Amino acid sequence: MKKILVTGAVGQIGSELTFALRKKYGEDKVIATDIRMPSDRDLRDSGPFEFLDCLDPHHITRVMQIHKADTIFHLAAVLSAIGETKPNQAWQVNVNGLYNILEAARQYHCSLFFPSSIGVFGNSTPKQNTPQETIQRPLTMYGVTKVTGELICNYYHKKFGLDSRGLRFPGIISYETEPGGGTTDYAVDIFFEAIKHKSYTCYLEKNCSLDMMYMPDAIRAMIELMEADPDNLKHRNAYNLTATNFTPAKISEEIKKHIPEFEISYQIDPARQAIADSWPDSIDDSCARKEWGWNHKYGIESMTKDMLDKISEKIARADKSQ
Ligand code: SER
Repeated sequence: MKKILVTGAVGQIGSELTFALRKKYGEDKVIATDIRMPSDRDLRDSGPFEFLDCLDPHHITRVMQIHKADTIFHLAAVLSAIGETKPNQAWQVNVNGLYNILEAARQYHCSLFFPSSIGVFGNSTPKQNTPQETIQRPLTMYGVTKVTGELICNYYHKKFGLDSRGLRFPGIISYETEPGGGTTDYAVDIFFEAIKHKSYTCYLEKNCSLDMMYMPDAIRAMIELMEADPDNLKHRNAYNLTATNFTPAKISEEIKKHIPEFEISYQIDPARQAIADSWPDSIDDSCARKEWGWNHKYGIESMTKDMLDKISEKIARADKSQ
């Protein structure tokens, strides 16, 4: 990877990935792009930024001609809960946007990273230890677009030799940039609320188990996959990936070890609960571990401690600068 373009660079994963790539490959080698301007000055000032709408192929061509990237991390996407309220937009962005990026990657001979999701699974998929290769009949528009994305990335690889690689992400937990419109977002909000108000009202049921991963592991996974020897990648589009799985009750017990007064209560959102119920309780990521050496570093305990420390520091910094 010599020159890298990131779409959706202002989003939850894109912003942290852009910093990590700039640190590793050089600030001027990573072009951050989004349809939103970064409000974070560090992101804006640490390297090139381009306004880029993935729904506009001419726009993509212009940016590619200027910057001559050899690798694209395509993170611009609509998440699951928003996708249910705006299915048309989810299809446009997640499928047509990806198609335009695939075409640009084909024409400009770029490698492509595509983030898939546990959302590709549905009620007919085995729920426990969900295998790499299994039934993929999702109920959500988000899931439909991600299955489509996996298939079309595979097609471009087979048909045109495009080096497309993907991961089925679980819920991603981070403190820098908020997620938006996902079903797993509770697992981020709960930390901020625990520190600010010592209480959290959760929209998922207390025993709803989902796979999760801390952002530093997710960033490392993307970079390691894109650097992996292609000869080893049998399931390139896309790998099951996980670090830990927990329920709202379990994560709240973990938070209580640090903040004993913390209380969780429940007010179930039927829409997001139905989505979560259709996803696996736990997934099997042994293919990623075998084929390119995936190994997570953060489990529930180390992640909880780090999240609480980092959010406290962030709030203290913000208070000081006021
Ligand atoms: N975190 C995503 C969501 O909840 C799943 O990939 O939509």
